[in-house]
Amino acid sequence: MGMRPIIEPFRVHTVQSIAMPSREVREEALRRSHYNLFGLRADEVTIDLLTDSGTGAMSTRQWAGMMLGDESYAGSSSFFRFEEVVRDLTGFSEVIPTHQGRAAEKILFATLVDDGRVVLNNNHFDTTRANVEYRGAEARDLVVAEGSDPALVAPFKGNMDIDALRSSLEADGDRVPLVMVTITNNAGGGQPVSMANLRAVRQVCDEYDIPVFLDACRFAENAWFIKTREDGYADKSPKEIAQEMFSLADGCTMSAKKDGLANIGGFLALNDERVASECRNLLILTEGFPTYGGLAGYDLEAIAQGLVEVLDEDYLRYRTRSVEYLAEKVAAGGVPIVQPPGGHAVFVDARALLPHIPLQEYPAQSLAVEFYREGGVRGVELGSLAFGIPQEDGTEVPAAMELVRLAIPRRMYTQSHIDYVAEVVLDVATRAESMGGYRIVEQAPWLRHFTARLEPVPVGSGG
Ligand code: F0G
Repeated sequence: MGMRPIIEPFRVHTVQSIAMPSREVREEALRRSHYNLFGLRADEVTIDLLTDSGTGAMSTRQWAGMMLGDESYAGSSSFFRFEEVVRDLTGFSEVIPTHQGRAAEKILFATLVDDGRVVLNNNHFDTTRANVEYRGAEARDLVVAEGSDPALVAPFKGNMDIDALRSSLEADGDRVPLVMVTITNNAGGGQPVSMANLRAVRQVCDEYDIPVFLDACRFAENAWFIKTREDGYADKSPKEIAQEMFSLADGCTMSAKKDGLANIGGFLALNDERVASECRNLLILTEGFPTYGGLAGYDLEAIAQGLVEVLDEDYLRYRTRSVEYLAEKVAAGGVPIVQPPGGHAVFVDARALLPHIPLQEYPAQSLAVEFYREGGVRGVELGSLAFGIPQEDGTEVPAAMELVRLAIPRRMYTQSHIDYVAEVVLDVATRAESMGGYRIVEQAPWLRHFTARLEPVPVGSGG
């Protein structure tokens, strides 16, 4: 049909060189970092797909905005511009800046969640889960069943299972201080949540009088999927859709390092003045005065501008297309991935690619290590190393899925970078059968995947 490619809707203004370490350097780096890719130095990485968080390129308007930053301790004009943009987008009256998303989580949960409580979510992301558990509460995931089936193609695999939500509230409603919905559902493959599902969550929570919070890190990508996949939204703008999503919640936590298009920052926004005032008191203790919340005035300017740019249709079309482009290339070569591709990343299904590696030997970690070894491409394990649950008898309950996430930073890499990544993935896949597993030699009590030390299990040793 001769369809023209969807091009990057920007041109390059400033460049940053990337490293091309040799295979020997990469081998040595793997050994030194104990096969944990978080231990690599960035200048040992050629294409860094570890995360889409805080890694994107800012626009000239964001950099220009930074020059306008007002660094006043109290009452900074940058705060008021930030507050206006967040209020206009979310409709929430109380806007509390934080240094990143998890700080918003920490403050919100310290205010609403305590020992013995249960927080419900489609899927808690790792920091969200850790912050809930740190309060002595249970973090319960209620994503729809199709969300845990990587190969299944469905438009809204991030949806909350409404029947499960209802039965959890029926059984434990008096212990549930809030229900969260993560948009898009990062832990489940960057899958979106439909407006119909958000509306259903709202309705059920209203019956039990429980507040609903969005984990809104990737709200714009979620809005784009609603626009392109859900009936009745094709003619609405991403901003109108985002506003409708937020109107179905009582508040949100946000990492501006994702769909804020900023390198740092976040916020907590909500309507309840009393809860907000308690949160602000904690904010002063750990983050800073409520008009800067751990950020510089210039960061607030960059976020305010980023929240506007991220809703641009040309941007969102290019953004989701570049992820889909990588997904199509690797899937065409037979590599199993989470389908359909999500908003910010391609998730490779290590369980399907490496069925010979037992789940106790972290097949997804093994695959992530090979992508680096092969071509200096750094992804992240989102499988049993990140989400496995150690038991008292020394065994582990494995994660629901064994994924390697190749997260695409926003506006940073071009199509040739993505072509390179696809070739590295395909080359690794051709030697899947020869790959072995790993064992943990050292780990922290929570969020262990950031610092764990591993060693290869000799192939053929039977574990
Ligand atoms: N919620 C979700 C869904 C996230 O993906 C993240 C961060 C957070 C909360 C916490 O935000 O990093 O600003 O404190 N995810 C990053 C990632 C780290 O790589 O997916 P933060």
